[in-house]
Amino acid sequence: MRAITVRDRGAGVSGLTLTDMPYPHAAENDVIVRVHAAGFTPGELDWPATWTDRAGRDRTPSIPGHELSGVVVELGFGTTGLTVGQRVFGLTDWARDGSLAEYTAVEARNLAPLAADIEHTVAAALPISGLTAWQGLFDHAHLRTGQTVLIHGAAGGVGSIAVQLAREVGARVIGTGRADDRELALRLGAQTFLDLGADDLQQVGEVDVVFDVIGGDVLARSTELVRPGGTVVTIAMPPTVQPRDGRAIFFVVEPDRAQLADLAERLRTGRLTPLVGAVRPLSETASAFDRRHRTPGKTIIQVADEEGTPHA
Ligand SMILES: NC(=O)c1ccc[n+]([C@@H]2O[C@H](COP(=O)([O-])OP(=O)(O)OC[C@H]3O[C@@H](n4cnc5c(N)ncnc54)[C@H](OP(=O)(O)O)[C@@H]3O)[C@@H](O)[C@H]2O)c1
Repeated sequence: MRAITVRDRGAGVSGLTLTDMPYPHAAENDVIVRVHAAGFTPGELDWPATWTDRAGRDRTPSIPGHELSGVVVELGFGTTGLTVGQRVFGLTDWARDGSLAEYTAVEARNLAPLAADIEHTVAAALPISGLTAWQGLFDHAHLRTGQTVLIHGAAGGVGSIAVQLAREVGARVIGTGRADDRELALRLGAQTFLDLGADDLQQVGEVDVVFDVIGGDVLARSTELVRPGGTVVTIAMPPTVQPRDGRAIFFVVEPDRAQLADLAERLRTGRLTPLVGAVRPLSETASAFDRRHRTPGKTIIQVADEEGTPHA
C-alpha cells in the first residue's frame, strides 16, 4: 500500500516520503480502515511518539497522521461495535502507525460511525480539534450555560470549534487572536474579540473559564482573569502559574467514541463547522506539513475518493 513514512528524526518535513509499505496487521480489538481522508498536526515530527513505541523502542519507518475518515475493511479478533463496510472517523494512537496511508490499523473504540451525508474530507478535520475543544471546555473546565469563557486563538483549528461549542451551550464567548482573525471569530459565535497584539487583556474583566491554545505569556496573564473557583485550561504547555482561587490544567486530547458521535451529529445538522483550508493528495504531504506553505484552516490529505478509488 502507499503510505507516507518518516525514518530520519533530523530530516524535518523533507523526510516525509511516499513509500510502498506492507498492509497493516489487525491486532485484537482493532479494525483495518481504508483511509479516504487524513488529518495531521504540523508539529508531530517533534513528538517522541512519532519515533518510538511506548517502551521507547525505535519504530521507524513510521507513518504519521492521527486523524482519519474512511471505511472499515477488516475486523481484528474480538472486535465489537463496528462492522465491515461501515463509514467511520476518529483519532488513532500516537505511538502506532497513523492515517497517512491507504490502510491503517486502529482500535475500534477510537472510532465512531460516520453518517453517509458527511464527506470524509470534512470528517477528517474534526477528531483532534473537536475532541480537544470538547474535553477542554466540558470535561476539564465544566463550562455551563451563562458562564463567560475567554478562548485564545479563536480562529484557529481548536479555538474555532471551542467558540462554536461554547456558544451552543449558552456561554458568553470572548475570542482572541490576531487582528485578521476578528471577523471569523465573530462569525463563528464570539460576542467580543480581542486582538492580542493591540488590545489590553485586562479589559476582559473576570471570566469563569480561560481556554488557552497559545501558552507562554498569554497563558500566564490570563490566569489573573479567572474568577474565584474558575478554571484555566491549556493545551499548549503545563501552566507555571496557578490562579489565586481556582485551577489551571494542561491536558492531552484522548479518543472518545461518544464525543466523536456527538460532534458528528452537530456537523451533520450544520451546528458545527470545522475549518478546512485545503485538500491535497498523499503525494503532496511534505509540502502540506511545511509551515512556510501554510494556508488558514486545516489541510486535509485525500487518500481515496468517496468510492474508495485511490486519489492520485
Ligand atoms: N494538548 C493537546 O491535546 C493538543 C491538542 C490539539 C492541539 N494542540 C496544540 O495546540 C496548539 C493550537 O492548535 P491549533 O490546531 O488550534 O493551532 P492553529 O490552528 O494554528 O490555531 C492557533 C491560533 O492561535 C493564533 N495565535 C497563536 N499565537 C498567537 C499570538 N501570540 N497572538 C495571537 N494569536 C496567536 C494563531 O494565529 P497564527 O496562525 O496567525 O499564528 C491561530 O489562529 C498547537 O500548538 C497544537 O500542537 C494540543
